[in-house]
Amino acid sequence: MDKLALFGGNKVKTTPFGRGKRMGAEEKKYVLEALENDTLFYVFGNQVRDMENKLRGMYGMKHCHGCSSGTAAVHIALGALQLPPGTEVITSSITDMGTLTGILYQCLVPRFADIDPDTYNMDPASVETLVNDKTGALVIIHHAGLPAELEGLMAVAKKHKISVVEDCAQAWYTHYRGQLCGTFGDISTFSLNHFKLITSGSGGMVATNRDELKENVKLFVDKCYFRDGRKRNPYFLAPNYQMTELQGAVAKAQLDKIAGIVEKRKRLGLRLIQGLKSIPGIIPQKVPEHSEHSFFLLVVRVDRKMINTSITEFCQALEAEGIPCEPNKITGGMPVYLYDIFQNRSAFPGSLFPFVSKDLETNISYPPGLCPQAEQAFQQTFNLNITEFYSEQDIDDMIDATAKVAGFYQC
Ligand SMILES: Cc1ncc(COP(=O)(O)O)c(C=O)c1O
Repeated sequence: MDKLALFGGNKVKTTPFGRGKRMGAEEKKYVLEALENDTLFYVFGNQVRDMENKLRGMYGMKHCHGCSSGTAAVHIALGALQLPPGTEVITSSITDMGTLTGILYQCLVPRFADIDPDTYNMDPASVETLVNDKTGALVIIHHAGLPAELEGLMAVAKKHKISVVEDCAQAWYTHYRGQLCGTFGDISTFSLNHFKLITSGSGGMVATNRDELKENVKLFVDKCYFRDGRKRNPYFLAPNYQMTELQGAVAKAQLDKIAGIVEKRKRLGLRLIQGLKSIPGIIPQKVPEHSEHSFFLLVVRVDRKMINTSITEFCQALEAEGIPCEPNKITGGMPVYLYDIFQNRSAFPGSLFPFVSKDLETNISYPPGLCPQAEQAFQQTFNLNITEFYSEQDIDDMIDATAKVAGFYQC
């Protein structure tokens, strides 16, 4: 057996990974247009509006609004639903803090569903156990770019008449049963941060087919100001989450690239899964037949009964072979409810609000052990990155390096 690079052996990956530029002529053209227009304010310019129209066309959605980030987008969606403080919102135990910020700012109470250990997406059965008469919304995450089990989740939401926010930050242009993620719920959100499949540095989108939410979304983006000539007189609390024309210009150009990016990632990602599957003790994220994975990341499980090392050492060995690899990149290695903010219930200084409140009639804590599948996943999984610039050789090197490391630690 070849000596691991971690212990002085030769690396598997000897050639650099494919790289490319994400920003091109179209981004430059639209940014220049924005500058020449001499206003970067979305109300007076065309870039944000064009970009919204483009997304509307691509997704077949009636209303789309640009905003400043994916975090802002989730906050806007929840703000638009106008849920009373103290309402419970169910979401996944594996997500980005950006899903949770808006929940807390709206004085809503997050409840965390456990995951399906094969897909790492929310388990509809776990969601069902959390529903009670205080539940107002379900925020669905499509983890790592794999569609959530929408049929089951939408059925729970429908049965209990709960609003659905689809947080598609990690799942641009991703299909479930042939339909785009983001078109199932009442309202959907997207992120354009640096790490996402398309980016405008920071940025976000909110989309809905529900006419009654349209005005609330627009107002929640913009201090509850009307921008259509009506008298200024805010009637609810709303932040300033405006998207600038510069972000809109870049996002507009990036939207034209998304289908091609997903196509390339899908081809490479499926090749990676196929190769990893044949390695004893290595279990790549399951892609159900009716789902298309857009490979924001790939989650890979190491079967500790067959491979005798910690996930940290496994990743160190893979890194040493030249394969970038992170144990649990998105959440910092734990389900989100184990973050200090939930353990200490410290959203606001000197207060347990909204977790504990007489006014809201809330008293909730998030003990370790709350979501056993999610907690176990963090002991056993790592994430592999794929970009649209990788070659098939890069993917094959990733497979060979994983096989070498797994072979070394085989029980
Ligand atoms: C699922 C999810 N929701 C929300 C966000 C927040 O997006 P942003 O970083 O644009 O605020 C992210 C970002 O990583 C995310 O992955």
